[in-house]
Amino acid sequence: MRPLTADDLPTLIRLRSDDDVSRYIGGKRMQSPEMIEQRFRFYLACHEQRGYGMAMILRKSDGEIIGWGGLQPLEETGETEVGYGFDKPFWGRGYATEMAAAWLRFGFEQAGLERIVAVAIPENVASRHVMEKLGMRYEREAQHYGNNCVFYAITRAEFVPRAGFYAVHNS
Ligand SMILES: CC(C)(COP(=O)(O)OP(=O)(O)OC[C@H]1O[C@@H](n2cnc3c(N)ncnc32)[C@H](O)[C@@H]1OP(=O)(O)O)[C@@H](O)C(=O)NCCC(=O)NCCS
Repeated sequence: MRPLTADDLPTLIRLRSDDDVSRYIGGKRMQSPEMIEQRFRFYLACHEQRGYGMAMILRKSDGEIIGWGGLQPLEETGETEVGYGFDKPFWGRGYATEMAAAWLRFGFEQAGLERIVAVAIPENVASRHVMEKLGMRYEREAQHYGNNCVFYAITRAEFVPRAGFYAVHNS
């Protein structure tokens, strides 16, 4: 993983505009190029303020960007959310779980967070499964990003780092 740079916008637009990806993250209205750019600027600003944030995820063997993921403020809740998405050819290989686990570890062990949350539309079975594999607990349904979402959370005390979880280098 590496922090976003100003040059990553076209790649983020390509990744998030894909039909099979966008339908899980608010659809074409939320993932228009203009909205993605707005979100991208938000990610850069968050990184500037907090010293960490959203990262691009690269395949080690050739540096290809295969997704994005990281910690971000959840709208106006004051909570920190782990968010992610991958290009479709890279689904189902355990990457999201590995990446999100590294972010939880970073959040609890280095950023001093007490609690990290995640949201998904209810039919996003893969993302819910990622959250459950991470040890996150279902709490409730809630409105986020203009959608009814399932809301999961984990506290620092509940988080169990397991073998194979990577440290995040995102400074
Ligand atoms: C959600 C997403 C990030 C998951 O990425 P991934 O790298 O494939 O996730 P992982 O491989 O780590 O884990 C997915 C798990 O869900 C399971 N899964 C996937 N689709 C499933 C389905 N339809 N029904 C049941 N289980 C499913 C997988 O088998 C895997 O579980 P396993 O390890 O026990 O076999 C990816 O599908 C994606 O980018 N989706 C589009 C964007 C998105 O939804 N982002 C998240 C918004 S909340």
